[in-house]
Amino acid sequence: MIPIKSFSERRRHLAAQMQQGVAIVPTSPEQVRSRDAHYPYRFDSYFYYLTGFGEPEALLVLVAGAAEGEPRQILFCRDKDTEREIWDGFRHGPEAACAAFGFDEAYSISRLDEMLPKLLADQPAVYCALGQDSAWDMRVTGWINRVREQARSGVVAPTAIHDSRLLLDEMRLFKSVEELQIMRRAAEISTGAHRRAMRATRAGLHEHEVEAELLHEFRRHGAQAPAYTPIVAGGANACVLHYIDNNAELKSGDLLLIDAGCELDGYAADITRTFPVNGKFSPAQKDIYQLVLAAQAAAIAAVRPGNPWNAPHEAALRVLVQGFIDLGLCRGSVDAVIQSEDYKRFYMHRTGHWLGLDVHDAGEYKLGGDWRALQPGMTLTVEPGCYLRPADNVPEHFWNIGVRIEDDVAVTETGCEVLTAAAPKTVAEIEQLMQGCHG
Ligand code: GLY
Ligand code: MN
Ligand code: MN
Repeated sequence: MIPIKSFSERRRHLAAQMQQGVAIVPTSPEQVRSRDAHYPYRFDSYFYYLTGFGEPEALLVLVAGAAEGEPRQILFCRDKDTEREIWDGFRHGPEAACAAFGFDEAYSISRLDEMLPKLLADQPAVYCALGQDSAWDMRVTGWINRVREQARSGVVAPTAIHDSRLLLDEMRLFKSVEELQIMRRAAEISTGAHRRAMRATRAGLHEHEVEAELLHEFRRHGAQAPAYTPIVAGGANACVLHYIDNNAELKSGDLLLIDAGCELDGYAADITRTFPVNGKFSPAQKDIYQLVLAAQAAAIAAVRPGNPWNAPHEAALRVLVQGFIDLGLCRGSVDAVIQSEDYKRFYMHRTGHWLGLDVHDAGEYKLGGDWRALQPGMTLTVEPGCYLRPADNVPEHFWNIGVRIEDDVAVTETGCEVLTAAAPKTVAEIEQLMQGCHG
């Protein structure tokens, strides 16, 4: 768990960078799934990062540059409501939330329109995530207009609107010790789920039955949800990058690609493993698998402080392209194939992304036009792949082989820590684990 004082430290840190002005950070609205049934609620990652408060209908206001030097930290949230709590469960209410989450002040969310114009009066700037939701943008500009209407009484309205995400993305990019602990646990639960899925897999099952094994393992260990819709893709389905139907029958002789990770206390794991449905790689499958594995090893070796963000991708790409040439899938030199992008027929995505509260986490990838340097505390995925579709003019023995191997890594002082190493990855590890199950 992240201690409550860490959330107020983050708020103070944000305010210190703003120097002056008011940050307005709302949480996500509840989403209707059908008629009056809702999707399970998920808070907004920025709001949660700054508050640790998980209820819907809440908003943070941070007033920087106060005379005493300390920012005003204000929470707006739902009122206590004994009638609604009978149906929907506990709500803190402003008073209890103020104490429990370390705020200076807390008010009913119903008072937003009354209080925001007052809080924005005589402030030079507003920090918010403009452009994310047009109804929300209208609301913020409405509050600013309400301040402008008071110009003849000498009240000055904010003249600048800054994107709060610029400052917050940079903060979120560097994970604290406590965040890393949660991410390690999310990784541990998720690697257990991949092992369980490998053990359960056999020909004749359907992809959704293997998906059920993953979900069972996530929930039984207390993960609140999958961090994203699991991809459980047998045979040709593995070549559809965002395949989520998960309804086909698994066939002996095919590979199964599983891209799945849980969300634990807000933090995502994101793992892909690819293995044979019958527990034994065919020679062609093994060729491609070993190639992707070698590309991933080269990429992971490039994750160390000071290396540019793109170094792991470039390392993986060179290994993959050399392999494509050796296997007769591409022609020419490595440099020429990279230059012509001919490899994109088989490897069309990049090798990773930041990972954290969002599976594709916040954070700039370039600074001043250049790939930024990796630094301790950053967490990212390393996920090369290879997808061989018949339509791409590949020899028949390679048809419909789709392989991706994805791990989560944290940059350390000396290199990196692979958070998801417990999910079997070498051919020998996978065949050994599955052998026990296929006899
Ligand atoms: N599971 C989403 C991704 O790998 O980026
Ligand atoms: Mn990923
Ligand atoms: Mn993934």
